[in-house]
Amino acid sequence: MPREELDFQIRRDDWTKTRFVEGAQPAELAEGQVRFEVDKFAITANNVSYALSGDGLGYWRFFPSGEEGWGRVPAMGFGNVVASRHPQVAEGTRCFGFYPMSRFLVIEPGNVSAANIFDAAAHREGLAPAYAQYAPVSADAIYTKKSEDAIILMRGLFLTSFLAEDYLMDAELHGAKAVLITSASSKTSIALGFQVKQHGNARSVGLTSQRNLEFVKGLGCYDQVVTYDELKSLDANESVGMVDMAGNGEVNRTLHHHYGDQLKFDCTIGATHWEAERSGEALPGAKPEFFFAPSQIQKRSADWGPAGFQERMGTAWSAFRDWSAGWLEVDRAEGRDALEQAWADTVAGRTTPNQGLVRSL
Ligand SMILES: NC(=O)c1ccc[n+]([C@@H]2O[C@H](COP(=O)([O-])OP(=O)(O)OC[C@H]3O[C@@H](n4cnc5c(N)ncnc54)[C@H](OP(=O)(O)O)[C@@H]3O)[C@@H](O)[C@H]2O)c1
Repeated sequence: MPREELDFQIRRDDWTKTRFVEGAQPAELAEGQVRFEVDKFAITANNVSYALSGDGLGYWRFFPSGEEGWGRVPAMGFGNVVASRHPQVAEGTRCFGFYPMSRFLVIEPGNVSAANIFDAAAHREGLAPAYAQYAPVSADAIYTKKSEDAIILMRGLFLTSFLAEDYLMDAELHGAKAVLITSASSKTSIALGFQVKQHGNARSVGLTSQRNLEFVKGLGCYDQVVTYDELKSLDANESVGMVDMAGNGEVNRTLHHHYGDQLKFDCTIGATHWEAERSGEALPGAKPEFFFAPSQIQKRSADWGPAGFQERMGTAWSAFRDWSAGWLEVDRAEGRDALEQAWADTVAGRTTPNQGLVRSL
């Protein structure tokens, strides 16, 4: 018997309130449409950031919920084409991409090639094309079946850190001798620490909370690890830069005042500490600057050529993925309760950093 439609939805003004919306069996496809059955998706703090910027950056618009006030958060995942009325998309095609936390997704492919199927549905208009992209695994040079969970948990996060490190190195780190990385236990920060340490042009310094200290120290991708309440023990005479994944006003204020002019850059990427107060005032040292990954992709695709870019990124990702197999434990579960719990824990910051949550409905 075909499975019924099922969506996980989140109150847009209170992410601790969630619900499941059941549907009838998915309706017949219109000409040109394709239906995916969502096989599995990953949940990390990055998905909470999508809710945080849902209104500002349009994340709620990817997958309309059908009711004002409720939203569907996107997640990286794998899905299989289970029905197709598009001549270039075959049933059985397995794709990596952005899916809703749902059982099914219907798209309206516009541009289709062996490497990518783009959803051209009207509600996607004006949203970044990168999120409308479904990549068949058959044409993905860095896909392996064995690494599927690592791919959905970390490949997108790694890409951001690969680009951020490249962007900072391109500017010779503005003279900094160390890169301070907040929320050092997050997967995005671990990827950045790994890249900085691999290249050896600066010390990588991880900043984290007391509860994650031992895990972060054990990773080996940071030359030094300090907790948020010991920031003043850092050497204020060293020229440093910071990359901020936490968005915590108190931490940022402390670092800017501690280093003053020795703080050579402040690159903003994330906001894992979303409940903390932000620092809105002018601070000593470098001005915070939001890192915009698409600009660096554009620059490097021009410098290295699109194939050269994919090759370098692929080689770097493979090294990171293989190294991560030494600490990443995948927590894989199916069903409503397991998804609800994973979301609640991720919003509250109760997750264990060596675990990667992979869910299915
Ligand atoms: N702008 C971009 O393009 C882009 C791309 C990728 C990622 N990011 C951002 O990078 C950040 C990290 O994402 P991720 O998916 O790598 O995270 P993750 O692996 O799920 O990170 C978990 C860690 O984040 C901190 N944390 C999470 N929730 C918290 C809470 N409610 N309260 C306090 N601390 C909390 C804790 O680290 P500590 O104890 O070490 O602080 C925790 O161990 C996110 O903000 C994400 O949006 C941005």
